[in-house]
Amino acid sequence: MKSIPMTNDIMTNDKPGLSRVDGRLKVTGKAKYSAEYSVKGLVYGVLVGSTITKGSIKALDTKKAESAPGVLSVLTYLNAPKIPGYQTDSPTSKGPLKIFYNDQIYFNGQPIALVVANTFERALFAASLVSSTYNVEPHLTDLKSNLDKGFSTRKEDKDYVRGQEDAYKSASIKVEQEYIIPTEVHNPMELHAIIARWDADDKITVWDKTQGVKSTQRSIAQAFKIPPENVQVTSPFVGGAFGAALRTWPHEIAAVLAAKVLNKPVKLVLSRADMFTSVGYRPYTWQKVGIAATADGKLTGITHEATGQSSVYEDFTEGVVNISQLMYACPNVNTRYKLVSLNVNTPTPMRGPGEATGAFALECAMDELSYALNIDPIDLRIKNHADTDPLSGKPYSSKYLIDAYKMGADKIGWQDRNAKPASVTKDGWLVGYGMAAGMFGAHRSSATVMARMMADGTLILQTAVTDIGPGTGTAMVTVASETMGIPADKIRFDLGDSSLPPSPTQGGSQITSTVGSAVHDACVALKEKFQALAGTTDASNYTQILKQQNLDKLEVTTASKGGTEMGKYAMYSWSVHFMKVLVHPATGVVKIDKAISTADAGTIISAKTARSQMIGGTIMGTGMALMEEAVIDHRYGRLINNNFADYHVPVQADIPQIEAYFVNKPDPIINPIGAKGMGEIATIGVAAAIANAVYNATGKRVRDLPITPDKLI
Ligand code: MOS
Repeated sequence: MKSIPMTNDIMTNDKPGLSRVDGRLKVTGKAKYSAEYSVKGLVYGVLVGSTITKGSIKALDTKKAESAPGVLSVLTYLNAPKIPGYQTDSPTSKGPLKIFYNDQIYFNGQPIALVVANTFERALFAASLVSSTYNVEPHLTDLKSNLDKGFSTRKEDKDYVRGQEDAYKSASIKVEQEYIIPTEVHNPMELHAIIARWDADDKITVWDKTQGVKSTQRSIAQAFKIPPENVQVTSPFVGGAFGAALRTWPHEIAAVLAAKVLNKPVKLVLSRADMFTSVGYRPYTWQKVGIAATADGKLTGITHEATGQSSVYEDFTEGVVNISQLMYACPNVNTRYKLVSLNVNTPTPMRGPGEATGAFALECAMDELSYALNIDPIDLRIKNHADTDPLSGKPYSSKYLIDAYKMGADKIGWQDRNAKPASVTKDGWLVGYGMAAGMFGAHRSSATVMARMMADGTLILQTAVTDIGPGTGTAMVTVASETMGIPADKIRFDLGDSSLPPSPTQGGSQITSTVGSAVHDACVALKEKFQALAGTTDASNYTQILKQQNLDKLEVTTASKGGTEMGKYAMYSWSVHFMKVLVHPATGVVKIDKAISTADAGTIISAKTARSQMIGGTIMGTGMALMEEAVIDHRYGRLINNNFADYHVPVQADIPQIEAYFVNKPDPIINPIGAKGMGEIATIGVAAAIANAVYNATGKRVRDLPITPDKLI
């Protein structure tokens, strides 16, 4: 067996890092996910989706389903009680899909009924008996042929201009190209699931897959007009999410509604097919980049335009073009961003939302420019490195991007790259090297943490954050262990419960920075309390002090957020991805031979899980580059590959040795622990690095993802 470097390849002050604190629970099946709770009297819901793409329901026949064995209810817009929170909106205003609201159909697969039965199988069978007739109207689902319908929702999207507009056009050395990314679906392994149980008329408990128990609490409270504290949300384990569980979706509202109607706890688990139309996706996006430089490689102009798709009922925007505004020092930059409303469900953030899409275009265009200039692509980037933030003019809180370029170039063996495309073969395969960079805002918001030292020396930490997989618990235990000076196995971190002190939603790469700081601050406050009790600054024998004071515990709860000095700085995390690929000249098969990712994400708090996160991001970017594409048959407006057999994601055999390296220098501004975010930058830039490596290997520039073999032969 090939030996896989575990921790020695991580530059983290030689600390190997904790293994996942919840790893044993996860691999032994003891970790409970939302669908796995046994709740007394549970009944089961299955959604029925629209089979047309646009129009209205003419007639719904639910009789057969209602008389099927075990069926308790079939909810539709005809019989569902009105959801109080829906009624305050004007019927024409755009916003989240209102389930069972009226007869209107906006996209194929839109839920039109919820069948509830006393077993899942009976509900599934009865759902097949629901039939509907429709008034069908012509639909639009194809972005590419409807680009002329683009509109801007916000002023800043319409036009960003720095210096001269479209300066690239008058330059002598320039690249002007169009790039397309298809719709990509998050497809976490765990299906979205909710169990909803009303405990009183205005009080409910939900076990729900969510990235934010507090935001789910607020959403359900708002929809049903009950006090937020009457909504208990439990979500201690989440089997991947990537953005799909950032918001409360119609299926969750439907389950809560059905539980109310039946006065029974209802479980609703989306099917894999439902996952393609119910919980968002990275939207199909067209982009055009014009980029120019002087002969010695100084950028003189970038124009970046993008048009993405959204639904007809809601405008979903993301920062696709932002990366071009701030990645490089360039005097003339302008961007435009538009949406086209299509008969599809609303997109949602997906790992690296906006930037992953934008980086594909910008970083491929930079590579194309490097060939036009005959300058090494790393040198071109370093020549145009921004020393202060080009967007705001502010200094960076920290930026070690150049270290990341150099570290990665060394690790991939960049000196072996032949700049001439299609010039190297090995064992009948074309060999190519490529690289691309990524960035994402480094954020810190507010969180509250309770820290309690027990008489037996156990430290309990509590906050409402969820962990969708990056290893939040492990990182938080690491911070607490270092701050308190006690071993990790004496620390318990409780999370994923809305009754705990508030934490933000896990998203936007902000949790280690935000909650890690709050854990740090709570531990510092707890230590101070011990010092006050003991009357000494050396109060590290916590159990002894508790015993002397005749206390069974000592606890503090502290809120923690960033200071105003953060506003004086531009704060970003940076990544660079390096790829060595092999392309088979006859079949067009692309194999990744070696992948290196480097990052400036501030101090690395949790070495093992940080490495895993970078590797996961590379795998997700590999799917984006080579495989993933949700395909709609535009004649019907329906997805044709809404399953794991036809929608390809990378599997073990597609993934080579991936290595992650960190600059690991603290950011002195963002927080007391020096950590910036990492979740997004792990994916941002990966697809461009692969496309650039494929070009180097073959001389073929594929600008529409995924790079499937047919595009190379
Ligand atoms: Mo994410 S797209 O930060 O869940």
